Amino acid sequence: MSCRLPVLAPLLLALPLLLSCSDDAPRGPVAEGLDPDVEARVDRLLDRMTLEEKVEQKHGSGGLPFGDVWGTPANDRLGIPGFAMLDGPRGVSKVAGEATAFPVAMARGATWDVELERRIAEAVAVECAAKGCNVLLAPAINILRHPRWGRAQEVYGEDVHHMTRFGVAFVEGAQQHVLASAKHYAANSIEDTRYDVSVEIDERTLREIYLPHFRAVVKEANIASIMTAYNRVNGVYCSENEPLLDILKDEWGFHGFVESDWIDGTLSTIPAAEAGLDIEMPSPVFFGDELVAAVESGEVSMDTIDASVRRVLRRKLEYGLDDPPAPPDASVVESSAHRALAHEAARKSMVLLKNEAEALPLDRADLTSVVVAGHLADVENLGDDGSSDVSPSTAVTPLAGLQSASGGAAVTPVASEDVLETADEAAVSAADAAVVVVGLTSEDESEYINIDVIGSQAGDREGLALSPEHVALIQDVAALNPRTIVVLEGGSAITVESWLADVEAVVMAWYPGMEGGAALAELLFGDASFSGKLPFTVPQTEDQLPPFDNTSLEVPYGHFHGYRHVDRNDTTPRFPFGYGLSYTSFAYENLQLEADVVGPEDTVRVTFEVTNTGPVPGDEVVQLYVGYEGSSVERSVRELKGFDRVSLMAGETKTVTMEVPVRDLAYWDAGADDWIVEPIEYGVQVGTSSRDLPLEASFTVTS
Ligand code: BGC
Repeated sequence: MSCRLPVLAPLLLALPLLLSCSDDAPRGPVAEGLDPDVEARVDRLLDRMTLEEKVEQKHGSGGLPFGDVWGTPANDRLGIPGFAMLDGPRGVSKVAGEATAFPVAMARGATWDVELERRIAEAVAVECAAKGCNVLLAPAINILRHPRWGRAQEVYGEDVHHMTRFGVAFVEGAQQHVLASAKHYAANSIEDTRYDVSVEIDERTLREIYLPHFRAVVKEANIASIMTAYNRVNGVYCSENEPLLDILKDEWGFHGFVESDWIDGTLSTIPAAEAGLDIEMPSPVFFGDELVAAVESGEVSMDTIDASVRRVLRRKLEYGLDDPPAPPDASVVESSAHRALAHEAARKSMVLLKNEAEALPLDRADLTSVVVAGHLADVENLGDDGSSDVSPSTAVTPLAGLQSASGGAAVTPVASEDVLETADEAAVSAADAAVVVVGLTSEDESEYINIDVIGSQAGDREGLALSPEHVALIQDVAALNPRTIVVLEGGSAITVESWLADVEAVVMAWYPGMEGGAALAELLFGDASFSGKLPFTVPQTEDQLPPFDNTSLEVPYGHFHGYRHVDRNDTTPRFPFGYGLSYTSFAYENLQLEADVVGPEDTVRVTFEVTNTGPVPGDEVVQLYVGYEGSSVERSVRELKGFDRVSLMAGETKTVTMEVPVRDLAYWDAGADDWIVEPIEYGVQVGTSSRDLPLEASFTVTS
């Protein structure tokens, strides 16, 4: 049975405990099945539609920057509604006015809390619906191949399993209220050449690294729509890439519609229509009159058009867009519950990278004065100004957060222009602690745009280090005050080599959303413990990572990046994937596998104990990796296959259970064109980061 959440939405808002559908399926039909009633209604509509009316369902109706949502045409004669689309990776796009600004997706990836992500996605979707929108252009689930990618902040991290779990959670949450469109299919992770670059990739790498999370949002979460990427894959633009669209539709059984990315995301009429692009966004260039003509001349068959329009109509009817309930009340937008969610996400996302000499937490009882340096300390630095930009009515800056939470201590800004003036020096020296807020802004990393009507935006980062001004500021402050705490803002890895040794503490605070400053203060003052962990590798220097090429128009994507790459090369990153400190400590014990010989269709059940051995409560993100002994192909040294966030009081022990389906350990055999589970030994490692895994065991898979 399918769930029609539009009808239920107002009720669900009032009764949060009833949020899951009776059959536990996300909105819309179950992935395997189609609703016969909907299909019959689609048949009847198709029978009545003219060619022009069918083609009209296959393109956008213009919209931004000339309107306030991205739309597709309605057909009033037949009662077919249009789509109203808004972006949403960190909240509802600013083009629809104010909305709750959540920490960016990368920050949320650092929470490793997929249930929280589900709740956030639901909140974004409710706000989207309240603004009259029915399609949320999110989640962005492209693998972070390299931290210089300008849109790194819009995705969850570098790992496939982690991306999969977050992508599925987002879609399940969002589709309680609207249709979701996962983007950008596929291998989209370079900005400056995004409109043309061809990612050259072998089938195995594509299948194992760049596609599994798209497959999961189709198979597990029944995503309503997929947006193609601007780039090419193996020479063919994604919007007309038949092999990619065949995998999506024929192999995975995707029943929804494929829409192109926006400006120049559709590049042809016949190849795109034949390959399986369903909707050209945002306006008809190739899928308007030219497509009508191509059908009339017999170059595109009516069957192709019907199959495509069926996908569009199906989703409209499944989601009840033809008979929508009243939208949620506007008061849901920036409601106190949503702000509290943004706060929770910010608190759980921040990563303590270094903490020596008990620099943190700042104990209010011992504190008279704190100086806060750096112009970013008092800036609402919430992320880039591309399509994911969100405009909240207010945002708590780091300075404001620290000032309002400091108790009696004076929190004083210095070096507001990133340069320490002589006049500031005495204040810095005399302070009990100095907090330096530095990092990146939309001028350093952003979605790339260079179009006359819209303007230009930064694109990819030029390097991984901080600007010389920010490094100098850190060093100047640290020279005056030994208790210097650096707070980094940004969307991905920032290298720290030139200044790390000079300071006592470092926090990765991301673009932390509208409640970021309040969450930062809570953590720095020790009202809560840090619990975020890095969803990517921070190298010592960029040459520890694969090269990042944002100038060539053909870029090879090899199998290894991030932790897979540094593990393979046996190099030591500065901060490994999964790393993050806490105010407490955790011990791991008693790893047990339910069986040490299993079959290829079995699931390996793993249990272990984790204990909070320190003085304060804390959450630990526990991680499970699997390695492959004697594989016939080169595999990663280890791959993340499970994780959980465990809350523990001081002294408390909990038993954690994780399940690893053996099918998830298969590799893609391009010759056989299939997944192969090898009858070999698999090593299980459990611990606190990809480089700190105290528990080990192994199991064998029978053939
Ligand atoms: C971006 C998409 C976005 C679309 C609509 C494109 O340029 O790549 O992520 O959804 O614009 O704003």
